[in-house]
Amino acid sequence: MSRRILVTSALPYANGALHIGHMLEYIQTDIWVRYQRLMGNDCQWVWADDAHGTPIMLKAEAEGVTPEELIARVKTEHERDIAGFLLSPDNFHTTHSDENREMATLIYKRLEEAGHIIKRTIKQLYDSEKQMFLPDRYVKGICPNCGTADQYGDNCENCSATYDATALKEPISQVSGTTPELRDSEQYFFALSTFGDMLKEWTDSGSLQPEVANKLKEWLESGLQDWDISRNAPYFGFEIPDAPGKYFYVWLDAPIAYIASHKHLCQRTGEDWEVSWKPDSDVEVYHFIGKDIINFHCLFWPAMLEGANFRKPTGVFAHGFLTIDNLKMSKSRGTSITIETWLKHLKPEYLRYYYASKLSGSVVDLNMNFDDFITRVNADLVGKVVNIASRCAGFISKKFDGKLAAEYPEHLQNDYTQFTSAQQMIMQYYEQREYGKAMREIMLLAEHANTYINDAEPWVKIKDENALTEVQQICTVGLNYFRIIVTYLSPVLPELARQTEEFLNTSLSLASLETPLCDHPINKFKPMMTRVESSQIEKILEETKGSSEQTNAQAIANANSSVEAIKPEIEIDDFNKVDLRVAIITDAQKVDGADKLVQLTLDIGIETRTVFAGIKAAYTPESLIGRRTVMVANLKPRKMRFGVSSGMVLAAGPGGSDIFILTPDDGAEPGMRVK
Ligand code: 2FM
Ligand code: ZN
Repeated sequence: MSRRILVTSALPYANGALHIGHMLEYIQTDIWVRYQRLMGNDCQWVWADDAHGTPIMLKAEAEGVTPEELIARVKTEHERDIAGFLLSPDNFHTTHSDENREMATLIYKRLEEAGHIIKRTIKQLYDSEKQMFLPDRYVKGICPNCGTADQYGDNCENCSATYDATALKEPISQVSGTTPELRDSEQYFFALSTFGDMLKEWTDSGSLQPEVANKLKEWLESGLQDWDISRNAPYFGFEIPDAPGKYFYVWLDAPIAYIASHKHLCQRTGEDWEVSWKPDSDVEVYHFIGKDIINFHCLFWPAMLEGANFRKPTGVFAHGFLTIDNLKMSKSRGTSITIETWLKHLKPEYLRYYYASKLSGSVVDLNMNFDDFITRVNADLVGKVVNIASRCAGFISKKFDGKLAAEYPEHLQNDYTQFTSAQQMIMQYYEQREYGKAMREIMLLAEHANTYINDAEPWVKIKDENALTEVQQICTVGLNYFRIIVTYLSPVLPELARQTEEFLNTSLSLASLETPLCDHPINKFKPMMTRVESSQIEKILEETKGSSEQTNAQAIANANSSVEAIKPEIEIDDFNKVDLRVAIITDAQKVDGADKLVQLTLDIGIETRTVFAGIKAAYTPESLIGRRTVMVANLKPRKMRFGVSSGMVLAAGPGGSDIFILTPDDGAEPGMRVK
């Protein structure tokens, strides 16, 4: 019996363009969905734009349009990119929809009735010039823990401390540049803390990847805090019922839109949406997400569903981030490639295949290197796969009137069966999201097919009038191999599959592979895929850099105009107190449990230091080893949650992934004083 499956991807914010980082998740989802459909399962993918929240409200204001106008425009752009990348969602809706308003209200009311909503008055930062309460990301100030300036209102990029925005010293509103005031505000909290036991059980139920389950256990052990689900006006979102001026926090109604989008789809198909969302439903529900939003999907979301008497997800599939040459994708480095730019120069299937060849079922990051990309795509897709067809097709159309041999050669039946029985392992890999392993198995088949054609030498035999039947058989075997390989690749390469169906004059399906295609007319072969040229990549990078230089110029202009004022004058003696030294990074490690930190081992000639630096968003640890940098060597050691940090590494930039460690030229030896 076929399985009934509902799949979701994380909802992109409706205030910006989709880029190749987003696409990692969407391609991962699309391959899984197409694989399920290939297996004959009833698999629906419901999805939407994430259209609410302060950033969207402020962006619309800055553009001089209404939020509704902004999100409508962006939705059209997202839909264009989704189609351009051959993604196959059954529905792409928006969180700002009637269905979602109803669903969010329904869930909220059920939670309220069950006593899971608590009102509390808390102190919040208020921008009196802009007349709005400030979300954490819109306040910056001095970290209350380590004293580092210019830190966001929720956590410190230097010491990784998390705190309440009201604890920041010298806070500045990022909206108006003024100092905010503290005001009392009544907020609505979801009583997450009462769902601890249920979440423990769910964590142990096997629904999660081991790394994710471990992370969750850590959170559950350190205690759950109730969750503020309300925001004050002005806010772009849904007003909370019976609470004028209070809105649902964007992260409340975003996952609810998974259900709302499904309901919207059911209005078209005539199905009953509730069947899939009842607690005892036998429909499987899976969420594909990035590792940064595990807490929303594995804590808040299952608790909300449970509290509102809906079913919980069958599984949550978290993936790592895309890195480019081991660095985080970044606008300022010019590696934040939009889908629009990519599609101007390259077909989507190259990236679909490259990601597939590197994806696994774990949360590790996926690194993209453009030389590797070109080599892999050209060698595998052009050199191995399409090559099979182009070597056999010409003979069939020219010499045999476009018809495959009447019978499949007896002595090759076993080999054919080997090709078809590889199906089991390949499909299992798809199911487990081990696409890299699936691609390797398929490429082994492609190599086998090429070796067969090489050894059979149809181009030599074609000259011998007596060997013509044999040539027809060789090409028939080759094209049957091609048919099997493309069927296996079809979740990754839907356009190649479509072209192959046209060329072989048949529809591809797993069941039809049982019998080889013989005595069958095929169509003329048209080139299916050309090699990727490095010039195409260069154009993509140039175009991306061009647009990011504009944004950088804007960022610098913004920074100069407001927040980053020059600090008060100091004497030379003050400066001389700071002992700056050249350091070589001899080791760099991830810090378990820290979102921002990298642990650096620094050689400064006379001694070795351990320093925790808040640069994880910009650098992978491996990329730092062996580099020179500059450190403050006489900074008083600070005890942090993860150990003692003895010094500080100098870096420039606003923070996050836009931070650049200072790097002296070669020749500067460790320990040299920086003056
Ligand atoms: O992190 C993000 O980009 C969010 N817009 C994802 C939302 S996913 C879901 F919960 F709706
Ligand atoms: Zn700090």
